[in-house]
Amino acid sequence: MTLTATDPTDLTALADLTDPQTFLRPKEELRAMWQRFRAERPVHWHPVEGRQVPGFWVLSRYHDVMAVYRDNKNFTSERGNVLATLLEGGDSAAGQMLAVTDGRRHRELRNLLLKAFAPRVLQPVVDGVRARADRLVRQAVARGECDFARDVAEHIPMATIADLLGVPAADRSYLLSLTKQALSSEEAGQSAEEAVVARNELLLYFSELADERREDPREDVVSVLATAQIDGEPLTEQEIVFNCYSVIIGGDETSRLSMICALHELMQHPEQWRRLRSGEVEVDTAVEEVLRWVTPAMHFGRRAVADVEIGGRTIRAGDVVTLWNSSANYDEEVFADPGVFDLGRTPNKHVSFGYGPHFCLGAYLGRAEIHALLTALRTHVAHAEPGGAARPIHSNFLHGYSALPVRLHPAG
Ligand code: HEM
Repeated sequence: MTLTATDPTDLTALADLTDPQTFLRPKEELRAMWQRFRAERPVHWHPVEGRQVPGFWVLSRYHDVMAVYRDNKNFTSERGNVLATLLEGGDSAAGQMLAVTDGRRHRELRNLLLKAFAPRVLQPVVDGVRARADRLVRQAVARGECDFARDVAEHIPMATIADLLGVPAADRSYLLSLTKQALSSEEAGQSAEEAVVARNELLLYFSELADERREDPREDVVSVLATAQIDGEPLTEQEIVFNCYSVIIGGDETSRLSMICALHELMQHPEQWRRLRSGEVEVDTAVEEVLRWVTPAMHFGRRAVADVEIGGRTIRAGDVVTLWNSSANYDEEVFADPGVFDLGRTPNKHVSFGYGPHFCLGAYLGRAEIHALLTALRTHVAHAEPGGAARPIHSNFLHGYSALPVRLHPAG
């Protein structure tokens, strides 16, 4: 069924936001859908059946989304922060893993982790990102044809995260294979049990690495967590391993999909590709527009802990509230011509990294990865064209492609 901006049909019947299929619709159609949500039902109750909760709220306007991100008094992440876990009733790492912890413990854990994310500490990691992106793009250009997802984008985020965590070179391929099995929903022929086994092996691996770093600390995330004390107490084993894991969950797929979408969108918009190549737009500015336009994490969510009024409707304590970044980033009240991909757009206060107390810890690194990719593309590629059909991922949370066949023509 096709949805247009003027379709008289009820929105609820047309947009099941729990169903990944909904997000496989053409981008223009999804944009029209969100436009109608913002105009007609900016605070919308979305019913669900057969779950632990009767439904959830859908916030689509920029200012409403920002207000809930900011408000960790009336809204909590401890009962889950994405629709899937919120509908299941909670997250098993709540109160221990940064993204699903609130209040004082969240502040303490976040302050600790910020040490490992300080620009001075990150500099060598960012240098690694640049070198890696440059080498991978050069190699892809030399081959002429490639699957940009598999041959380029896949190799940047996990290697970066391994640098950040301080994983020794010898363990990297083991870590990569475990994260693929633990997290990828697309591994062919993989059972749910195998994913659980891989997840447990990952946690065990970080537990052992933390023991080593306690004896011989460096400046990496594992060392910071392993040696930290809060009020004279070390972190629990669970807190250490869950937060190592959270850096992988937070930083791998999001960055990978952003890079894949960056090239996809540049191929769809030759004029913007030309502006990037000619230097007419700054790479920094282009990075922000890629983030807005792509919106790799389409939503996050919270549970209300008190009754709150938003847009004239009452959200009750206990209700699930979802915040649609993919709509907020196109809100015509905030962005001029939001439906235009403009690499020179300023200002560009998108919500792709969230906002407020849970603002993405890896934003600097995520930006550096996209920056490195755009720089490598504009340096080494004169022209890029599709080499086959892109394969979209099936998700109501992340947006992007798992395969992007391309032909890359070298810059003269
Ligand atoms: C949090 C998006 C890259 C680690 C978040 C949030 C968003 C986000 C929207 C807020 C979640 C919430 O409010 O519940 C993205 C996007 C990325 C990216 C779009 C890439 C383009 C990264 C990277 C890392 C990372 C590279 C680490 C290396 C985290 C962590 C949190 C987080 C640990 C939780 C922060 C907290 O709860 O205090 N991310 N992220 N992210 N992100 Fe990212």
